[in-house]
Amino acid sequence: MMVRARRPLVAGNWKMNGLRSSAAELSRIIQGAKELGAVDLMLCPPATLIALFAAAVAGSAVRIGAQDCHAEPSGAFTGDLSAEMLRDAGASAIIVGHSERRIHHNETDADVRAKALAARRAGLCAIICVGETHGERENGRALAVVERQLDGSVPDGATAENLVVAYEPVWAIGSGLTPTPADVAEMHGLIRERLQSRFAKEGQATRILYGGSVKPSNAKELMGVAEVDGALVGGASLKADEFLAIADAYR
Ligand code: PGA
Repeated sequence: MMVRARRPLVAGNWKMNGLRSSAAELSRIIQGAKELGAVDLMLCPPATLIALFAAAVAGSAVRIGAQDCHAEPSGAFTGDLSAEMLRDAGASAIIVGHSERRIHHNETDADVRAKALAARRAGLCAIICVGETHGERENGRALAVVERQLDGSVPDGATAENLVVAYEPVWAIGSGLTPTPADVAEMHGLIRERLQSRFAKEGQATRILYGGSVKPSNAKELMGVAEVDGALVGGASLKADEFLAIADAYR
């Protein structure tokens, strides 16, 4: 068996999907998690379900995360949720800077960095997303774009505890398309280099996930790429059997 430097993490991002009745899917994930090998499982449901799901996973190996937060701890920000509130509801991590937030809510690298710091302030791990558009890859700018996003979005003082990076090419999200293993290796290698040069040993220990159209059929290949420490899964995480089959790539 291959010995890994970092414990893999497979995280599911439910986006704006899920009702209280979806707890049945979570129960299947909790059950299935018992059969898995050495891999961390996390589910990031919509905020309305965090408290319910956090109660359901208590005592299991599954963790619950949030999909976004406001940078401030409290205040007059109608409709927003702070990292402290998400922690209070039972989240142990927060996805920040997902491309859907960057695109639909105009979030900049500075916004994402502030949100990552908010997660840290609340004692939570920030899962910071970066990734190029199709046009940027076509123009040969993918590496430069991701390097800029990474440098701008990841706050100083990051550790393997308070940071996970997710490389998610925008064009691969929900499209069924994925980069070649060589392209994933090149990007994850660059991300590792940047993390190591900024955070030394902590940068070496920080997990870097791949995200974008991860499915049971391609999980083994993508998860087998150097410097890929797990997956951030959208669509396929809505079905317990698909999500578990992806995590099973680490058996
Ligand atoms: P997908 O989404 O797996 O549905 O492509 C991934 C993501 O947006 O995190």
